[in-house]
Amino acid sequence: MILIDGKRISQEIKEELKGAVLQRKAEGRKIPHLAAVLVGNDGASMTYVSNKVKACEEIGFESTLIRYDDSVPEEILLAKVQALNEDRSIDGFIVQLPLPKHIDELKITQAIDPLKDVDGFHPRNLGNMVVNLPGFLPATPAGVLELIQRMDIATEGKNCVIIGRSNIVGMPLSIMLGRNTKPGNCTVTLAHSKTENLAEVCRNADILIAAIGQPGFVTQDMVKEGAVVIDVGTTRVEDPSRMKGWRLAGDVAFDEVSKKASMLSPVPGGVGPMTIASLMLNTLKAMDLKGK
Ligand code: GUN
Repeated sequence: MILIDGKRISQEIKEELKGAVLQRKAEGRKIPHLAAVLVGNDGASMTYVSNKVKACEEIGFESTLIRYDDSVPEEILLAKVQALNEDRSIDGFIVQLPLPKHIDELKITQAIDPLKDVDGFHPRNLGNMVVNLPGFLPATPAGVLELIQRMDIATEGKNCVIIGRSNIVGMPLSIMLGRNTKPGNCTVTLAHSKTENLAEVCRNADILIAAIGQPGFVTQDMVKEGAVVIDVGTTRVEDPSRMKGWRLAGDVAFDEVSKKASMLSPVPGGVGPMTIASLMLNTLKAMDLKGK
């Protein structure tokens, strides 16, 4: 079994991006500037956002973190999105999800200028993705594609089963892998909570992608011998043996599935770091899309 080492591959991408920053500096051009909006104190969201800010620092991008209390009214957040849309110093920004229940996530997502939507969540960018027009691809699915490409995993004509149809992972990934692109040209099955005979459906997969957020959900009886298995799950589970009291768990029962899969991505160190690398790639692209 070959480990799909997202940590190493994301580091390669960050090194490439450092080079791009140095080149821009040498040419006297603007350095990419990413802003992140974080609402509330959810531990996982705080970690994700701080990792995004750290990645900017490592690469040499500028970054701005904007924080609000859980109780922030929707109008205030919408006004901030508008201000960031108009701020010429900011090239791209994200609003970390999930948002508190009283805020309509889709309303916020749709308020973001599609040309600054480096998360690729705006319907315009999702639509562009469907018809292969230039735009931003959502960071986690783009990270999965980057892993597939850099690990030289064949996709053309392969059966790909994705478990989970979320707007930010499963749904866009199903489109990206089914398109007539490279990587792409898979025969995609998008499985979800209503899928019948899920284990049987999964056993048909040459490439199995788990994105449901249920630790250890994918067991070895769901995996074809020699399949490529990509684990997008990142759930915090209690672990008293760790200093922080928790650890990250993937959707795949790693020990048993590793006996059957030809390639497998671990959690942590698989897709997670690739999401951040893709966000950084999108931030650089934001400047190119605007011709800065
Ligand atoms: N929450 C979980 N994943 C993501 C992501 O990629 N972007 C944002 N903004 N929120 C998330």
